[in-house]
Amino acid sequence: MMEQEQKDLLLKLAREARDHSYSPYSHYSVGAALLTKDGRIYQGCNIENASFTPTICAERTAFFKAIFDGVRDYSAIAVIGSGDLPAYPCGVCRQVMAEFCDGDFVIITSNRDGSEVVTETLDQMLPHRFGPKDLA
Ligand code: THU
Repeated sequence: MMEQEQKDLLLKLAREARDHSYSPYSHYSVGAALLTKDGRIYQGCNIENASFTPTICAERTAFFKAIFDGVRDYSAIAVIGSGDLPAYPCGVCRQVMAEFCDGDFVIITSNRDGSEVVTETLDQMLPHRFGPKDLA
């Protein structure tokens, strides 16, 4: 599916990105590293807000940075939270993935100390999804 070396690099960059998190309300920091098909890596962190709803997840921060740069083809994302359990992407982030990624897009999630790593595809995480094909 993916080389271990590349997976390790994405996880390392996601962990680094987590240090940039602004999460004074949940105290749950998340970092992400998004690999583009042309080999670039975009990092993201969660950014919270006192009004709560403007909060953005680490995954979407990474995607939106890449999209702004005009890079729209992605192969994988690593996500690391600060809890005991791996940080699975929320439903909103999965829907953003559905907009821009194929079903074989790889999602790697891990927990605070990296002791657990789970690798799945978008097809596994969001089956039967609504997406661009439905409005074509
Ligand atoms: N969060 C992420 O950044 N990514 C996820 O996959 C799950 C949740 C953030 C949003 C919010 O800042 C905090 O984690 C608690 O929900």
